[in-house]
Amino acid sequence: MTETTTQEPLRVALLGCGVVGSSVATILTEQAADLAARVGRPLQLVGIAVRRAGRDRSGLPVDPALFTTDAAELVTRADIVIEVIGGIDPARDLILSAMEHGASVVTANKALLAEDGPALYEAAGKAGVDLYYEAAVAGAIPILRPIRESLAGDDVRKVIGIVNGTTNYVLDKMDSTGQGFAEAVEQAQALGYAEADPTADVEGFDAAAKAAILASLAFHSRVSGNDVYREGITEVSAADVQAAREMDCVVKLLAICERVAESAGGEGISVRVHPAMIPRTHPLGSVRDAYNAVFVESAAAGELMFYGKGAGGDPTASAILGDVVTAARHLVGGGRGPAETAYADLPVLDMGQALTRYHISIDVADRPGVLAQVAQAFAAHDVSIETVRQQIIPGADGESGKAQLIVVTHQAPDAALSATVESLGQLETVNEVTSVMRVEGA
Ligand code: HSE
Repeated sequence: MTETTTQEPLRVALLGCGVVGSSVATILTEQAADLAARVGRPLQLVGIAVRRAGRDRSGLPVDPALFTTDAAELVTRADIVIEVIGGIDPARDLILSAMEHGASVVTANKALLAEDGPALYEAAGKAGVDLYYEAAVAGAIPILRPIRESLAGDDVRKVIGIVNGTTNYVLDKMDSTGQGFAEAVEQAQALGYAEADPTADVEGFDAAAKAAILASLAFHSRVSGNDVYREGITEVSAADVQAAREMDCVVKLLAICERVAESAGGEGISVRVHPAMIPRTHPLGSVRDAYNAVFVESAAAGELMFYGKGAGGDPTASAILGDVVTAARHLVGGGRGPAETAYADLPVLDMGQALTRYHISIDVADRPGVLAQVAQAFAAHDVSIETVRQQIIPGADGESGKAQLIVVTHQAPDAALSATVESLGQLETVNEVTSVMRVEGA
């Protein structure tokens, strides 16, 4: 260790000093000796770019002279730049400038990666530097490196993730307490799990950016955030969650990336974020609270599950510092991390072509011929029924009762399933389609 610490340090610049940035600065400082030993040279924090200079940051174990509001200048004098500002601007320009000035970049910026990943890779390639972003998906969980490197010799077929902790917390509370969506969100906000404006989480934007990154890496193709079909959890009702319970399932917001056969005969990518019922016995069914997990199916390895904390200062800093050590080792020993691999160039398919299963609850009149009509609506769209359950709700005195039908389908194209639901709604014998939810993993 003595030998390494006498060597010229590698200069590390940190852009952003919020919850994650503070953890990164603290670990870099407090674990300096171990990090130097692992890298082979010391890592020296040369500056921390912040938006406002005057804040009290005395709790951080760093020299106050390191704080600067001039991020553009800071990125020109570093060997490794860590970006934890988030958002597109000014993060993109700062990263590009850092690379042009010869720095490797470690970022947690999922929105930027999902919007402009190929341009960042191109700039990294041109400058001969590394681009790492493990923290952009599922916080502390090592999932991008396993897909990018450990599974590089395998054939990944499907990735299903619970990659948003806020929505997992909300859905878990709805399941365990019977609360409605609004009540569960309020509780999540009170406990600091959900933002004051929870739109990016509950509408699925955050998960969609992460799905785009996962699909790009898993299938060696370019997938951007805009390619991802997205439905959030705002429409998930207590009744939907109860219906799932009755099937021994839980409702989860899933990011699903899979390779599917195209109608034209080739292969394409289905990439989507939506709530779905999943069996409690499925590994993802037991992911509680704000935890994240990613389930990977590949041809040779079979099924793999990655589980852990998807957010928070220290967990996210762990992923960032892992990337920093890797990039630093390359600077010391030579070599570079993997470049973009988009050679497969698979097309992203419409949601209508995704193969899914539906769980549908329908209120119908309780009289002869109704079941046959309902079954005909499924048959007309070539959708095969897996199970049907009926329960009778008796009418008041002198009134006829009604029946609730619960239908679970076999797998079919999503377009056929949604057309079936539309037809059901138009049947004269159907009072109401009360719940529609996709089913995964069963
Ligand atoms: N807001 C995200 C979540 C964490 O709730 O999981 C950052 O990606």
